[in-house]
Amino acid sequence: MRNSMFITLEGIDGCGKSTQSAKLAQWLEARTGQKTVCTYEPGGWPDGQSFRDFILGGGKLAAMTELLLFLADRSEHVNRVILPALRQGYSVICERWNESTMAYQAGGHELNISHVKRIIRACNFPEPDAKIFLDISPQTAIQRINSRGGKGDKFEAEGLPFMMNVASFYRLIAEDDKQRFIRIPCDDMDESEVFSAITSRLEAHLWQSR
Ligand code: TMP
Repeated sequence: MRNSMFITLEGIDGCGKSTQSAKLAQWLEARTGQKTVCTYEPGGWPDGQSFRDFILGGGKLAAMTELLLFLADRSEHVNRVILPALRQGYSVICERWNESTMAYQAGGHELNISHVKRIIRACNFPEPDAKIFLDISPQTAIQRINSRGGKGDKFEAEGLPFMMNVASFYRLIAEDDKQRFIRIPCDDMDESEVFSAITSRLEAHLWQSR
């Protein structure tokens, strides 16, 4: 049985990915006995921070430029972090992946979804074993982002209509790929309830079906 897993966490800004990523890594290490690497996009590779600052900084970029930058970021991330870790037998938990690109650049910034999918497919990035979608309403997300204070990145500053488009794209994408997506409706759950829901669904998804 293969022990190392590649798991992605998806959802709109404020959905709680970072909190769940750290908890999930501990659980996965205990479950598999293998080291787990937690990473994120954009910028989760050595030298990636300046790339992240550029993409998420305030400057307005054309939607296509943005798409290509996120894919360039992913390419470095795959080659420098994700594939080396998986090849060593480690598991990888990554906050955001191809589905973020579909939901934000097609859903949010209205690029044509079939073009976006085609470009992503041509990149041939590794396919996750499971994609966890933390589904919260844009209203709850915006409350959480505001309660964190600070200015947020340029995507967080786009406001409710943008978030609603991204959220509805996520739901469509998850519906289209039921085999790999695990959708957790998070609005009425606290952090530990979300975590329990993730681990029990993952247990069934990753091991009982193999
Ligand atoms: P986060 O680190 O707080 O999740 O912020 C990353 C932001 O970048 C978030 O607003 C979503 C956005 N993003 C895209 O628009 N497309 C992508 O492909 C990725 C990876 C992130």
